[in-house]
Formats: sequence, C-alpha cells, structure tokens
Amino acid sequence: MCGIIGYIGERNAREVILEGLKKLEYRGYDSAGISIISKNSLKTVKKVGRIKELEKDKKVKDLFGKIGIGHTRWATHGKPSEKNSHPHLDCKKKIAIVHNGIIENYQSLKKLLISEKHKFNSDTDSEIISHLIEKFYEDNLEEAVIKALRLLEGTFGLAVISKDKEEVIAAKRGSPLVIGIGKNEKIISSDVAAVLKYTDKVIYLKDDEVAVVHKKTVLIRKINGQKVDPKIHKIKWDIKSMEKGRFKHFMLKEIFEQPETIRNALRGRLSRSKIKILDEKNVRDIKRIILTACGTSWHSALIGKYLIERIAKIPVEVDYASEFRYRKPLILEGDLLVAISQSGETADTLAAIREAKKLGASTMGIVNVVGSTISREVDFGIYLHAGPETGVASTKAFTSQVTALLLFSLFLAQTRSIRIPCKTISELKKLPKKVKDVLKNSKKIREISKSFKDSKNFLYFGRGINFPVALEGALKLKEISYIHAEGYPAAEMKHGPIALIDKEMPVVFVATKSELSKKIVSNIEEVKSRGGRIIIITNPKNKELKKFAEYVIEVPSTDEAISPIINVIALQLLAYHIADLKNLDVDKPRNLAKSVTVE
Ligand code: AGP
Ligand code: GLU
Repeated sequence: MCGIIGYIGERNAREVILEGLKKLEYRGYDSAGISIISKNSLKTVKKVGRIKELEKDKKVKDLFGKIGIGHTRWATHGKPSEKNSHPHLDCKKKIAIVHNGIIENYQSLKKLLISEKHKFNSDTDSEIISHLIEKFYEDNLEEAVIKALRLLEGTFGLAVISKDKEEVIAAKRGSPLVIGIGKNEKIISSDVAAVLKYTDKVIYLKDDEVAVVHKKTVLIRKINGQKVDPKIHKIKWDIKSMEKGRFKHFMLKEIFEQPETIRNALRGRLSRSKIKILDEKNVRDIKRIILTACGTSWHSALIGKYLIERIAKIPVEVDYASEFRYRKPLILEGDLLVAISQSGETADTLAAIREAKKLGASTMGIVNVVGSTISREVDFGIYLHAGPETGVASTKAFTSQVTALLLFSLFLAQTRSIRIPCKTISELKKLPKKVKDVLKNSKKIREISKSFKDSKNFLYFGRGINFPVALEGALKLKEISYIHAEGYPAAEMKHGPIALIDKEMPVVFVATKSELSKKIVSNIEEVKSRGGRIIIITNPKNKELKKFAEYVIEVPSTDEAISPIINVIALQLLAYHIADLKNLDVDKPRNLAKSVTVE
C-alpha cells in the first residue's frame, strides 16, 4: 500500500527521498513522484511505473534542495497515470502534498472548490487536499492544513510543503506516518524501514495529529489545537535485517529466517513448562474469544481456533475482519477480540477492533510491527518479534503468529489450571531445529517445482488443524505465481472439487501424522483413481502414502498442535520456487500491497 517520504535537513533531499521510496517499494505501487523546494522555487516530477523510471528522468537529476516530499501511489481513485500521481499541487503551484489513504467526501469538497474557481488536474481524491490548503493559506501553513483536515472524512497519511516555508507539515488519520528524528534533519515516512538509515529514534504520529517539522524541531498538535508532547521511540531493528543478503529475494530470506524468528517468538515466554506471555489479569474473565484478521493472518486465526479450543477449552469464533466490522456482531460479557496482523496497519482489522471496543469487548493484538496503529489501539497484546517482513507474501510472520497463538493457548490453559500437554512443550522447544530440517528440502522442492511451473490450477487439501495450512499453501501459490489455487478440507473433495480432478490437476495433500491420518488416505486414493498428479507432505515414517504420490516431501514429525508450522514451510518453498522459475517479481507481486491500509 503506497508510501510517503518527506525530508528536511542538510542533505540533498532528492537522494534521501528516492532512496526512501525504494525502501517502500515492497509495499506495492503503480507510480511515483517527488517535489523539491530550492531557492523559493517548487519543482515536481511524476512518473507511472517503477521508481527507477523516475530516477532516470533528467528533470529529477536536476532537482537540488534540502526540503522535499515523495510518494509511491497505489491507485484508489483515478487510474495510474502521470497526472494522477502524487505530489499534487495547488492552483498557484506553491504548495505540494502527498497522501496515503482515501478521502471519502472528496466529491462534495471538489464541487465546492470548483465553484470557488479552483482548477483540478487529476481524477484523484487526494488533489482536493492541496486546493483546500490553498483556500485557507495566508502565512501559517500549519493552520491552513489543520483547517483543511477538519473538513476531510476518510483516512490520510499526509506530508505538505510550500515553497515559501522551510518546514514540512505531516498529518495522520488511519494511515501510518512516522517522523525519524535526526540531529539536524528529519525524515517523514509511512514505514519505519525508510528512516533506519538515518536514525533509530522515531515519533509515531497518532490519529488526528499534525506535526510541524523543521530540521531541528518537531511540534505536534491535535487537529483540535491541543498541544501534544510526543514520545520518542528507539527502533531496535538493525539496518542489516532490511537487506536481502545472500538471498535472491526477501521472501526466500524470510522463509530461511524462520528457525530464528520462531526462536524469537518463544524467547522468554517458555521456561521449563511455565508460559509467561501476558498479564493474567487480562484474560482471567474471558468466556469467549473472537479471532479476527485478513488474508494469511486469517489462516493463522483458523489454526488458533483449533489450538485454543483443544488446549484451553475456551470457545472461539473466527471472523474475516472485513466481515466482522459490518455484520453487527453480538458481543457478550467476557468476550475478547484478538486481532492478528503482521503490519498492524490493515484497515479492515483496525476497524474490527474499533467496532469490538465500541460494543464493549476487550481487545488484544498479535502483531509484528512494534508501535503500529493496531498495537497501540488494543488493550494489550503479543509482539511476534519476527523483524521486518519485506516480501509481500507473508511467511515468517505467519509461523510466528501460529507460535504466538500456541503459546497463548497454553497460557490460557495454565491460568485455568488445565493440564498442559508435556509433549507439546517438549516439541515446542525442538521446533526451531525441526524448522531448519524442513528447509533442507528447498533444493528438492525446486526440482519438483520444475514439473509444475506451467500448471494452470492447483488444489490443496488438509484435515483438522492442517486444513488452514492447505488454505495458506493455496494463497501463497496464487499470490506470487498467479496460478489459480484453492484449498479445501480434504473430506470436502467429494462435495464438488473432485469434479476438477484430471491428469493435469496437481493436488497437494498435507498428510502428516494426526488423528485423521487414516481418513486422508481414502481422500488421496479418490484423487489417485481419477489420475490427479499428487504431491504429499508427510512424515518420514508414513511409507504407505508413497505409492499414491508423484512426489513426496518429507517433513519432521512433531506434536499435531505444532505440525502446521512445520508443514506450511514446505508449501512456502513450493510456491516460492514455482514463482521464481516463472521469473516473476516474487517480492512485489502484481496488484498486491504489503499492508492494505485502505478498505
Ligand atoms: C499474505 O501473504 C498477504 N500479503 C495478505 O493476505 C496479508 O496477510 C493480509 O493483507 C493481512 O495483512 P496483515 O497481517 O499485515 O494485517
Ligand atoms: N487515494 C489516493 C489516490 O488514489 C492515494 C492512494 C494511495 O494511498 O496511494 O491517489
């Protein structure tokens, strides 16, 4: 989802902004632009396509100045085009703005501004912001921005400059914005990753806050005028963790980071057989849990249901956040809403939290990005400590989410004096090593991928706690290889999907040891008898399945509650290698954004 960079300081703003926009590329975009102030003039260049197109443009090379803003756009209103790219200017070409988010009442405001003789150059919602500021601007830019923002409905991450001011105005509502605090420079960004090169001190703007950013100072006020004393956070991520290192793609790097990231998710939370993950008072009176998320995080929520109900004996509902927020949910005394989100900025998940709070539920987050909006809006939560996940297709965050959900289930059982299965604890301690063993399959899986890279469809089947793993395997494949793929509970096959089986159809079975192992054999036989091309993920001892499969991928045996974490890694590698063999842009798949901060 799009990105913003603003700079004010001693460096050449063009270089800082272009480099910062490249750090944000992974979020997905269709066009980019930059505005620089130098010697009381405001110059703007915008391009459809990749940032490197912008960089090559001669007009960009000629940009020099110490104040500027840049933008990567993920179009919501107005098709990707040069005129619809940001920054957007006012009529007098004196003010430039970049905007992330959606202005829901832009049509009525545009009509008003046109009636006041404003001329528009784009079809976007964002452009009305530059004209609104112009309408109110005399000599106080902050005041003019505040007046404009008070009229806006919807979401914004916003940076504003004016050629007659040595400052950048930043504002936020529902779309993330951080301010990197350098000694004689400030960097504004929609993602902390872009400021790390210059500083590890950041201010996270909160909703309806406006910052006046000078190279030495940052003054923050609420839109209602109230002064804010900002909290400066120290970012612990090191810059190295942002680079690809020896890997061809961030996604592959993040798949291979999983032994370490799972170790981080467990660190300090699992001592002997005692689980320490939350303050007990937060969960003592919980009677029902509602897990809500989007995409891959929703798949980890489905696994969470199996874990919490089986281990902690608490009823669990799972909801797509985009559905929960509109279905007028019934919230009862003792309900806990748990929002799961890697980015902590997903608009639908954030809205579900706000809806649940409004209805009286307590709220918890399972989030990766420290300081993200979701992590700050819930009542309490668990951080994944997986480090920045740059590949759009989520991998290490997913396995850390499931690890956190398992720890949460064990913690709930512990607080209810329900016996914790010792096998689960002992297997949890061995998990990082077993994940390392799964990764040894990468070369073999790449060989297998060569036989399937031209397939047009895939089916994934799993049962019980591994049914969500089938869904996740299918999502991984479709989002990075663009091959159509569907996941189902294996027993559902006979209720329709089996009609799709023919000798072209690759069918992946997640068939590791479980209470349902026998059941899944008959599902495999049903596919075999219809000529399907079978790939089986199973454990070394499960010899009897080999006769059915074209390919078998062996993964270490483990406790059934932990098996989704082991099994999904084989499917992450399968999706990765197929997409890579198709020479696709694995880290930045078409149409996708890393964090969907719009509805
Ligand atoms: C997963 O590979 C996708 N990138 C997407 O489904 C993602 O999981 C979803 O948008 C939720 O994002 P979040 O975890 O940051 O809230
Ligand atoms: N809604 C704005 C547009 O379509 C901003 C989109 C974005 O967040 O990149 O230009």
